Amino acid sequence: KLSLRDQLYEILALTAQFFQHALRQPQGEAALTYLEQARQLRPETIQHFELGYAPAGWQTLYGYLVEQKRYPVELVEQAGLIVPRQGGKGHYDRFRDRLMIPIHDLQGRVIGFGGRAFGEAQPKYLNSPETELFDKGNTLFALDKARGAIAKDDRAVVVEGYFDVIALHAAGITNVVASLGTALSLAQVKQLLRYTESKQVVFNFDADAAGQRAADRAIGELANLAYKGEVQLRILTIPDGKDPDEFLQNHAVADYQTLLNDAPLWLDWQIQTLLADKDLDQPDQFQQGIQSIAKLLGDLPNASLRTHYIHRCAEWLSRGNARLTVQLESDL
Ligand code: CTP
Ligand code: MN
Ligand code: MN
Ligand code: MN
Ligand code: MN
Repeated sequence: KLSLRDQLYEILALTAQFFQHALRQPQGEAALTYLEQARQLRPETIQHFELGYAPAGWQTLYGYLVEQKRYPVELVEQAGLIVPRQGGKGHYDRFRDRLMIPIHDLQGRVIGFGGRAFGEAQPKYLNSPETELFDKGNTLFALDKARGAIAKDDRAVVVEGYFDVIALHAAGITNVVASLGTALSLAQVKQLLRYTESKQVVFNFDADAAGQRAADRAIGELANLAYKGEVQLRILTIPDGKDPDEFLQNHAVADYQTLLNDAPLWLDWQIQTLLADKDLDQPDQFQQGIQSIAKLLGDLPNASLRTHYIHRCAEWLSRGNARLTVQLESDL
């Protein structure tokens, strides 16, 4: 007899096949059209990511797994696929009328799903809950497909969204994983570091406020590793408020590669961000800029790193002004 975990793997694998099959049925036509036209995906990409469709009924998957395949209700519930009705008997399908994206573990086994609504239905994404198999803080979307390329390129790229990964992989940039919208954890980054010898990690979160906050939070999480040189962290922010998927819709892949190769180191990025909204010709804003940078540099545990950045900042602020260096040093 199979263990609980093996039974759950089996149910999730069957479910992924069920969703893939439904995408090719008349009921899946709108979903397929959405993938091919709105998202511009080729058939081989849809196949590679095992994309599917969860039908619109309340008990479609339930009927398949419980009534047809005879899996115990409790097990299907533990797989995160059905939800008990509030204050009544019975269960209903968690994912209905959504585009389904399977999430795999390192061995390529399905451990959960992300489901995207079409059009304006809310929430935009519905994800599997944490289960016996799906530990969100320890999972990176598409790491099973990306780890070979991370080792080859000696660099890992982390994006926010499912479709950012899918679009980049489809464009031939395959060293890319997604954090799935949650705050990136140290455990997740440590998984990536297993595959890159020189510890190169690039965050390419959305260029909107949420994405920039996520980058800041992730930097905080990694600061100690970064100080010790155990991660070479770079931050890529796509110009004009875009995510990588949107960028690739109207730019060449080579343009993305250029952004990737030019991505600033995390401290440079933080300093640039601190200065970005300041008019340095205004004395008060200039002063604020210096103070916020002094605070940032004051946290650096490493004196040579601090000295390096003091001089760099003085250069940025007014092209090598020696008095500014002294002021930054004294503000520290
Ligand atoms: N996310 C989520 N639940 C939401 C919104 C977002 O789980 N309600 C996660 C998803 O993994 C999503 C990621 O956060 O891919 C990034 O969110 P967002 O930038 O809002 O979505 P996109 O991936 O850009 O979505 P799309 O391109 O499909 O519109
Ligand atoms: Mn699979
Ligand atoms: Mn976003
Ligand atoms: Mn996005
Ligand atoms: Mn997007």
